[in-house]
Amino acid sequence: MIWVKVLSKQETEREDFVEMAKADGKKICIIKHKGKFSAVQNTCPHAGGILSGGWCKEGNIVCPIHRYEYNLITGRGTFGQGDYIDIYPTELREDGLYVGLKQSWIKKLFS
Ligand code: FES
Repeated sequence: MIWVKVLSKQETEREDFVEMAKADGKKICIIKHKGKFSAVQNTCPHAGGILSGGWCKEGNIVCPIHRYEYNLITGRGTFGQGDYIDIYPTELREDGLYVGLKQSWIKKLFS
């Protein structure tokens, strides 16, 4: 796993937000909800909505297109959806917020 910095310390100190960040060339949805950070895939599995354009509701990220909801801890869609999103580990360090990404075997081979 590689850890990639996605927010500076100053950026982490803002009020709650949902926004897109790039980590190792990958678009990720970064969430600060009730002071807690989450990182999830940026594309909705239902029909490609952009989750970083959504909002949080009761521990879920809500897609702005058809309002499907995904749990910020498990990634599971709410009852009846039958789908899920990828959740990435986050770590708040002295210099900012980091997201943990699995390194693809191709990158491992050539790094
Ligand atoms: S595209 Fe996200 S709920 Fe339909």
